[in-house]
Amino acid sequence: SDRDSLFIVSDFANKHYQNILQNHEQGGIGQSYLKERGISGATIRKFELGYSLDAWSDLTDAALKAGYQQRFLEATGLTILKEDGKKYDRFRGRVMFPIHNVSGRVVGFGARTLKSNDKKSPKYLNSPESDIYHKSNVLYGLFQAKQAIRMQDMCYMVEGYLDVLSLHQGGIENVVASSGTSLTEGQIKLISRYTQNITVLYDGDAAGIKASLRGIDLILENGLNVNVVTFPQGEDPDSYIQKVGDAAFKAYIQEHAQDFISFKTSLYAEEAKGNPVKKAEAIREIVTSIAKIPDPIKRTVFFRSCSLIFDIDEQLLISEYNKMQLQGR
Ligand code: GTP
Ligand code: MN
Ligand code: MN
Ligand code: MN
Ligand code: MN
Repeated sequence: SDRDSLFIVSDFANKHYQNILQNHEQGGIGQSYLKERGISGATIRKFELGYSLDAWSDLTDAALKAGYQQRFLEATGLTILKEDGKKYDRFRGRVMFPIHNVSGRVVGFGARTLKSNDKKSPKYLNSPESDIYHKSNVLYGLFQAKQAIRMQDMCYMVEGYLDVLSLHQGGIENVVASSGTSLTEGQIKLISRYTQNITVLYDGDAAGIKASLRGIDLILENGLNVNVVTFPQGEDPDSYIQKVGDAAFKAYIQEHAQDFISFKTSLYAEEAKGNPVKKAEAIREIVTSIAKIPDPIKRTVFFRSCSLIFDIDEQLLISEYNKMQLQGR
């Protein structure tokens, strides 16, 4: 079928990019970039990293010459057809991260520029949606992580490709990224095949905190448990593990894992101090999250812990929750 052809041409591209990284003279540029980022040869092989030549149509020409049909190259987004009929490669001069589905077939690519601050081209390019690549139902690294997720009965969620690679390399293999999209319900359902426990490790910046807050409510709504680890301002899991080393990183995430109530509490605690209006807002924020939990027993446990933290009557929280239910939140 056509879908099979899309898988087959993606596999060809994956091998092509890997071959360039390993054997082509330009591959050396990709190799030195990855070395600079602290990525080992073993990690490169395990995640099948590659490099796309800085040329207009290297992949397209190679694929057509090998007999692949142009319409499949276009359908996967690997080839872009211009109005004048010229064909060119979507990915050029970038480190290639193949994205596998759970059964290990390549469905798309993430691609990083090597230029550190080129405003003209985006830092990462992704394959477009196709019949084999539905972004909201794919998690980067899940194929490589699924056994470890089941064994540890927990899944770490990170933001980026390099975060997945660096943690794996440091011995933390139960890690996936929702690269290219914010976390979706489909992605949470995928994880729930392997575990009910997610720990969010997002970047230590405003965007990371915002994404954590969004992620938390979605995870709770789907009935899974969620913990959060925050990193120092400006650090992400990749930069932090590369900076402090594997052992210190593992100790850090053990010590800093918070349930969502403590996370939200500490987020709002500073402003809430001695300000009853802010304190009331913080409590309402937390009750909103608790309200998303489908399991009434879990809800009760979290109402209790919220009431202890804020020293506020549990019945008051529950009546606040009931009000929200009536308002349909
Ligand atoms: P590095 O700089 O290589 O360490 O990347 P990062 O993963 O730390 O990047 P960042 O925290 O800025 O972004 C997190 C994730 O968002 C990336 O891994 C990408 O999946 C995605 N992303 C970042 N920048 C872009 C972009 O310019 N375009 C697209 N489509 N996605 C991006
Ligand atoms: Mn489809
Ligand atoms: Mn970031
Ligand atoms: Mn980052
Ligand atoms: Mn990073």
